[in-house]
Amino acid sequence: MKIVKVKDYEEMSDKVCELFIDRLTALKNPVFGLATGSTPKGLYKRLVQRYNKGKISFDHATFFNLDEYIGLDQNHPSSYAYYMKNKLYNHINVSSEQIHIPNGKAKDLKKECDRYEQLIRDANYIDLQILGIGINGHIGFNEPGTPFDSRTDVVQLTNSTIKVNSRFFNSIEEVPNEAITMGIGTIMDSKEIVMLISGEHKSKALQQTIYGEVTENFPASILQTHENVTIIADAAAFGE
Ligand code: GLP
Repeated sequence: MKIVKVKDYEEMSDKVCELFIDRLTALKNPVFGLATGSTPKGLYKRLVQRYNKGKISFDHATFFNLDEYIGLDQNHPSSYAYYMKNKLYNHINVSSEQIHIPNGKAKDLKKECDRYEQLIRDANYIDLQILGIGINGHIGFNEPGTPFDSRTDVVQLTNSTIKVNSRFFNSIEEVPNEAITMGIGTIMDSKEIVMLISGEHKSKALQQTIYGEVTENFPASILQTHENVTIIADAAAFGE
């Protein structure tokens, strides 16, 4: 694992943005895996700023999101589809064919998971996967106990994740208790992974990810076994 320690959230976002743009320009047809939540907002903001300055183009890239809540329409303000459109896709030069997000409203959810998994295979896997981390070590929506070889599937959210994510909803009752997520095996197929960790509340998770035992009880620990992982974390996440 390559560990990059930065001062704060802004510097973390600057660093990941540079790395992202490097891959965007270096690769002929880059395939990006994207995350939602608070952590990557700074990255998306910077990408839009750089695009507006006319410095970069996304016309040759493909995007796959990690996950989506089950039951939320893509226009629901708390859906990840809405988040992505709002934070990034509506502001850059991408067409709907370049963007992939699991459909949490699909009639046949199992079929939707298989379709998503196949799309990633057809794209010859993800070149750069951006990851955040849940305080319980979840990646995507793969909660503790998920087998390391899991593929895109319907999963149950833990009460702790529902509680933490309720800040993006009007009330905790509105938070779906199921989601579609890329599996841990799917994420591990990515050629390169960058995990972003910011804030004091993530310091235990950071320690376990980098130094802890590799165990299915802490999903992010699997990253220790991937050959191309960079963790960009700020001083607060390092407990300083
Ligand atoms: C959600 C997402 C994850 C994300 C995590 C951390 O549960 N499914 O992909 O990494 O939250 O979110 P945050 O960055 O807001 O701490």
